[in-house]
Amino acid sequence: MLAMNYRGPRRVRIDHKPMPEILHPQDAIVRVTRSCICGSDLHLYNGSVPDTRVGMTFGHEFTGVVEQLGEEVEKLKIGDHVLVPFNIACGTCVFCQQGLYGNCHESNSQATAVGGIFGYSHTAGGYDGGQAEYVRVPYADVSPTVIPEGMDLDDAVLLTDVVPTGHQAAEMGGIQPGDTVVVFGAGPVGIMAARCAWLFGAGRVIVIDYVDYRLEFARNYAPCEAYDFRSLQDPVVFIKRITESLGADVCIDAVGAEAAGSAMQTILGRKLLMQGGAATALHWAINSVKKGGIVSIVGVYGPIDTLVPIGNVVNKGITIRANQASVKRLLPRLIEQVQNGILDPKALITHHIPLEDVSDAYRIFSAKLDGCIKPVLMPPSART
Ligand SMILES: NC(=O)c1ccc[n+]([C@@H]2O[C@H](COP(=O)([O-])OP(=O)(O)OC[C@H]3O[C@@H](n4cnc5c(N)ncnc54)[C@H](O)[C@@H]3O)[C@@H](O)[C@H]2O)c1
Ligand SMILES: [Zn+2]
Ligand SMILES: [Zn+2]
Repeated sequence: MLAMNYRGPRRVRIDHKPMPEILHPQDAIVRVTRSCICGSDLHLYNGSVPDTRVGMTFGHEFTGVVEQLGEEVEKLKIGDHVLVPFNIACGTCVFCQQGLYGNCHESNSQATAVGGIFGYSHTAGGYDGGQAEYVRVPYADVSPTVIPEGMDLDDAVLLTDVVPTGHQAAEMGGIQPGDTVVVFGAGPVGIMAARCAWLFGAGRVIVIDYVDYRLEFARNYAPCEAYDFRSLQDPVVFIKRITESLGADVCIDAVGAEAAGSAMQTILGRKLLMQGGAATALHWAINSVKKGGIVSIVGVYGPIDTLVPIGNVVNKGITIRANQASVKRLLPRLIEQVQNGILDPKALITHHIPLEDVSDAYRIFSAKLDGCIKPVLMPPSART
């Protein structure tokens, strides 16, 4: 089958790989019909996630048709068209039972932090992902969800990550009616977080980035105020100034490890890999939230130590909430919101790119060319 193949930092190509097989009675094999590239894949692409092995296939956001089933799978049948949440979750461990499907204790049992994630390095379990024609889906009865009749596949594929992550970013912010919410990052996740902030009752939503076309998109889609941090001199001072010197009620970090904006963070976190990423947006979030405010982190950082102003967290009495999104927990509500037209995720998709052109797709998304917000890879069988 055709599959994306990681060859080393900033080198990916399309290759032929063996078909995946059922390895466990709870597995399914799915023929992929849509597979996105995510900002999280850029951390892998840039070589900043430990134990990202040459030969791995990325891709944790995909839809597909069930082609084979292990003998213990009961809820799915051959031919079902499913959306597959990015977290691999057993459904029964102590963490899954609490709805912490991103922290499953079984799907990545060597690790103490994150659970298994499709196509996300051996740090996240070493599972091959969906940027391929076929993919093995473990615990097939737990998270894969049959796509509701009539739902657009472009909407469905964004329910595997972007929509729940944006929603959870806003949810973790504990937004109260009328709150001022600042979202750092106008990628798909930040834009969706800004959109969802209104659903929780925000009174003012501000997005910060430095890519003009994304700021423009956020302004119209969320809708919200959106500012280029390069024109602000100091985004922290700016946020203080527009909030009567108090600071924002809630700040959301939807940037993570690839942040721009601080030479020191960039050198330590992105060039020398001496910390778990460049924590520039997180710094800004901590310093621009009000005393007693909440910082919600969905931007991804690596497992090693990272310089953040922890003294300010303590002295301002900030609550920090963070996690990988718990997709399965949120799906029922979010499917309903998409069906009711409250959320329109497919509007974020700017590019449908043949799977065979995966290296171009990474280049375009990574360099933010051609107005790219969210690219979707289309395997040959999905294009006929
Ligand atoms: N927690 C989760 O479950 C989860 C799920 C999906 C994605 N993520 C993470 O969320 C983050 C965003 O994902 P995405 O797909 O939107 O990525 P993306 O790369 O498309 O977007 C990130 C945006 O941040 C902007 N940016 C860079 N430095 C900035 C700064 N200092 N301040 C403000 N903006 C800045 C970039 O210009 C870009 O537009 C990534 O770190 C990704 O790994 C987390
Ligand atoms: Zn993702
Ligand atoms: Zn579990």
